[in-house]
Amino acid sequence: MTMVTDLGNRLLAAAQRLPVARAVTEAATSGGHGVVVAVAAQTGGVGKTTTAVHLAAALAQRHGRRVLLLDLDAQGHVASSLRAHMRGGAEASLSEVLLGRDGDVCRCAVATDIPGLDVCAGDRALGQTEAALAGRMGRELLLRRAMTRARRAYDVIVLDCPPNLGLLTLNGLCAADHVLVPCELSILSLEGVDALADTLEGLTASFGRAPAVLGMLHTRVDRRNSRQNATIRAAAAVRYAGWTLPCEIATNTALSAAQLEGQTVFRADPDARGAADYAALADEIAQRLWAC
Ligand SMILES: Nc1ncnc2c1ncn2[C@@H]1O[C@H](COP(=O)(O)OP(=O)(O)OP(=O)(O)O)[C@@H](O)[C@H]1O
Ligand SMILES: [Mg+2]
Repeated sequence: MTMVTDLGNRLLAAAQRLPVARAVTEAATSGGHGVVVAVAAQTGGVGKTTTAVHLAAALAQRHGRRVLLLDLDAQGHVASSLRAHMRGGAEASLSEVLLGRDGDVCRCAVATDIPGLDVCAGDRALGQTEAALAGRMGRELLLRRAMTRARRAYDVIVLDCPPNLGLLTLNGLCAADHVLVPCELSILSLEGVDALADTLEGLTASFGRAPAVLGMLHTRVDRRNSRQNATIRAAAAVRYAGWTLPCEIATNTALSAAQLEGQTVFRADPDARGAADYAALADEIAQRLWAC
């Protein structure tokens, strides 16, 4: 009890020292029909891939949208999370597209048995690709350029970013109109949000634009820690006023079980809490992207 109170005091004090709420950046013009949403956080294991996969699947399944889910992470967790759904092979790997001239991410797209959802898998060579791209002119904008056709072909392109701020994540952020930030209810995760917010400010300073923040999503929320959760939620709400989404994702073993089976929770265990939480997230995001 005392520990939680101390933690709360420290968090609130830290929150109040920081500038209250960083401004939500202006959405960049998409330059095509589709919108691009990057799921990004600098902290590892906070549910970026789980969120990207279920958001993409639900926007296709529940909202009838044409969706491309693109994995920028060499770990390739999108493909392993959806392996039971993927059909056929891709014409090219994402590394080949990023390294080649006139790249087009549509060449990496693979269909799934979820109507409307295609996937560009991450490939193991992406680590070397990132290093190879480091010396190129306009290296942060390669993905943005490679998405011209995809923006016409899809209503929304969801990017699953790696857990660092390397060149691949920067390419994702430069290509995106919006960023969705998963964040556990922990101090370390909030510090990761600080780092991402600094990066967005840096992008605006360097390129004159940054993706608009679509929201901060509390993930892996263990409802048994209600007191600590409330404290961290309050600190996050002060520090990032306007960013917190009204829905959150509870800890639910059905989500990790579904990932092991290579399927979405919507198919593996449709009555699970995780399925309801991600359906609510997709409804909220669809409302924010297309309601007006
Ligand atoms: N709400 C949840 N409840 C239970 N387990 C979850 C939940 N969200 C994610 N997980 C599990 O936590 C692990 C990490 O999730 P995930 O791969 O989505 O995180 P990540 O942020 O993409 O990780 P990385 O930084 O390595 O890319 C996975 O085993 C996943 O199944
Ligand atoms: Mg991941």
